[in-house]
Amino acid sequence: MGCGTWAWGNRLLWGYEPSMDSQLQEVFNLCISNGVTLFDTGDSYGTGRLNGRSEILLGKFDRAYQGIDKENICLATKLAPYPWRLTRNSMVAAGKASAQRLGRNIDLVQMHWSTANYFPWQEWQLLDGLADLYEQGLVKGVGLSNYGAKRLRQVYKKLSDRGVPILTLQVQYSLLSTYPVTELGVKDVCDELGIKLIAYSPLCLGILTGKYSPDNLPRGLRGLLFKQLLSGAKSLLACLREIAQFRQKTMSQVALNWCICKGTIPIPGAKNPEQAKQNIGALGWQLEAGEVAQLDRAAAKVDKTMVQNIFQSK
Ligand SMILES: NC(=O)c1ccc[n+]([C@@H]2O[C@H](COP(=O)([O-])OP(=O)(O)OC[C@H]3O[C@@H](n4cnc5c(N)ncnc54)[C@H](OP(=O)(O)O)[C@@H]3O)[C@@H](O)[C@H]2O)c1
Repeated sequence: MGCGTWAWGNRLLWGYEPSMDSQLQEVFNLCISNGVTLFDTGDSYGTGRLNGRSEILLGKFDRAYQGIDKENICLATKLAPYPWRLTRNSMVAAGKASAQRLGRNIDLVQMHWSTANYFPWQEWQLLDGLADLYEQGLVKGVGLSNYGAKRLRQVYKKLSDRGVPILTLQVQYSLLSTYPVTELGVKDVCDELGIKLIAYSPLCLGILTGKYSPDNLPRGLRGLLFKQLLSGAKSLLACLREIAQFRQKTMSQVALNWCICKGTIPIPGAKNPEQAKQNIGALGWQLEAGEVAQLDRAAAKVDKTMVQNIFQSK
């Protein structure tokens, strides 16, 4: 299956309003016409009155798009191992429900998180359900999300015993969240097992764009989080800014290019065509090894980094 080298995450969080839908269609079109063909969503995205809306929207955008590369679009969704999903059939049913919202088969189905940290037995049945979806030809590929290296190896063994390859693993990875790679070693294991590593929240929810400061915080939970992170991230942001100015790129482009240089596929969220256009500008060039090392050093010095996903396993 053809996943692009870059992607757009469609989480519908942090300020989404239905009035943004036509802008989001534009974002979708812009991505594909620039070679970005992997789109990530999840069956848990969009809660309350927006239940399932992210998948519904992606499906709508996909059907409406008629330009180049249409055949290469890869719709990736994540199925949540909710506590009430206990059997393999519940996962097959969840996959079918997502496909219905998307209006077509899922290309890449991913386990949204591992249950290793709180109910380690639950996920084995559910992984069988993902493998069933693959065997029944209902999905083209299977991926994981929020797995550490140790658990990844266990799941790899289980699925390969059934002849089901794991194509991708997504983890929270950015200059402010290097933990999955530096501490858990997921990149080495992915390389060894032939799994592509997807970097989610590659802009650390927007901090790495450089547009936020203690005097200019986003509303809500994100503002509270940024307030805690911004002062510790000062020298990292200064380093990003300096490289961006030297390169005549934006800080977002440098932050995303750093992810690419690390051999990952970043999936930044973009709320409007301007952001998408800017993020697409992270493609087609590469930071030099010295610049990557400079960013690595600055990232390693940050004392308070982004909080890890509570479901991230070891
Ligand atoms: N597997 C998982 O558990 C998991 C968890 C989280 C996310 N994800 C995936 O990763 C995707 C992206 O993550 P994310 O949205 O959490 O974080 P992100 O990509 O790090 O940050 C996205 C936010 O940054 C701002 N932004 C993006 N591009 C910008 C630009 N060029 N200039 C200025 N601001 C810009 C926008 O917010 P503002 O304009 O409001 O600042 C945007 O919503 C999600 O959509 C989802 O598909 C997966």
